[in-house]
Amino acid sequence: RVGRPLVVAIDGPSGSGKSSVSREVARRLHLAYLDTGAMYRALTWFCVSGGIDLTDAAAVEQAARDLVLDLSTTPQAEYVRVDGTDVTDAIREPAISSAVSAVATTLGARTELIRRQRELIEKHHRRMVVEGRDITTVVAPGAEVRMLLTASEEARLRRRGIQLGGTQNAEQLAAQVTQRDARDSTVVNFTQAADGVVTLDSSDLDFTETVDAALVIVTKVLNRD
Ligand code: DC
Repeated sequence: RVGRPLVVAIDGPSGSGKSSVSREVARRLHLAYLDTGAMYRALTWFCVSGGIDLTDAAAVEQAARDLVLDLSTTPQAEYVRVDGTDVTDAIREPAISSAVSAVATTLGARTELIRRQRELIEKHHRRMVVEGRDITTVVAPGAEVRMLLTASEEARLRRRGIQLGGTQNAEQLAAQVTQRDARDSTVVNFTQAADGVVTLDSSDLDFTETVDAALVIVTKVLNRD
C-alpha cells in the first residue's frame, strides 16, 4: 500500500550523527532510507580501484555514468555493492574517506549521482528519508520535511572518538575531519540552513534524544499543513 508522499531531507556535516539518526527516523516512520554519502563513497571506491585519476573531471564523470551500484534502501539492512562486489566496509576505509572530496567536488559526477538519487526517491513513491549535504537544497528542495542536523565541532570530533588537546595522532585526525568538511563545503553549503529548513543542533543531545527531536520536527511540519 502506497501512502502519502513523505520525503524527509536531512543535511549536515560529517560526525553530526546524521546517518544513524536518519536511519532510525526512517525505521520509526516506516520509510525507505537513502544514504547519499555512500553513493559518493562507492563512486570513489570504483574510481580508485579502477585506477582513475581523480583530478581528471571527465574521467570521474564517465565513471559516475558507468557505475553499477546496488545500495540498500531499507533502514534495517546496510549494504553497498559495486558491480556485484560488496564494498559496505571498504567505502568507510580512511583511503576512501580522504579521496571522496575529490569526487564529490566534480560537478559532472554530482549531476549523475543527483539524477540517480531523484530516481530512487520516485521509485520509492516519495516515501523516504534522504540524507547528505545537498538534499534540502538541490536533490529534494520540495521535500515535505527539510532538516539541517548540526553539532559543534567539539561534539562532532568527540563522536568520532577524537579528543581535542590529546595525542598528535588525535590532532591529525581532527584536522582531517575539519579539512574534509571545508573541502566539501566549496560545492555544497551545508553549514547554514536554507530558507524553510529547520536546524536541529545535537551538540548536547544523545542519540535517542536527537532521534526524538527529529521526530518532533517531522510531526510539527506535517501538522502545519
Ligand atoms: O556523509 P559521508 O561522510 O558518508 O559523505 C561522504 C562524502 O560525500 C563527503 O565528503 C561529502 C560528500 N557528499 C556530498 O558531497 N553530497 C552528498 N549529498 C553526500 C555526501
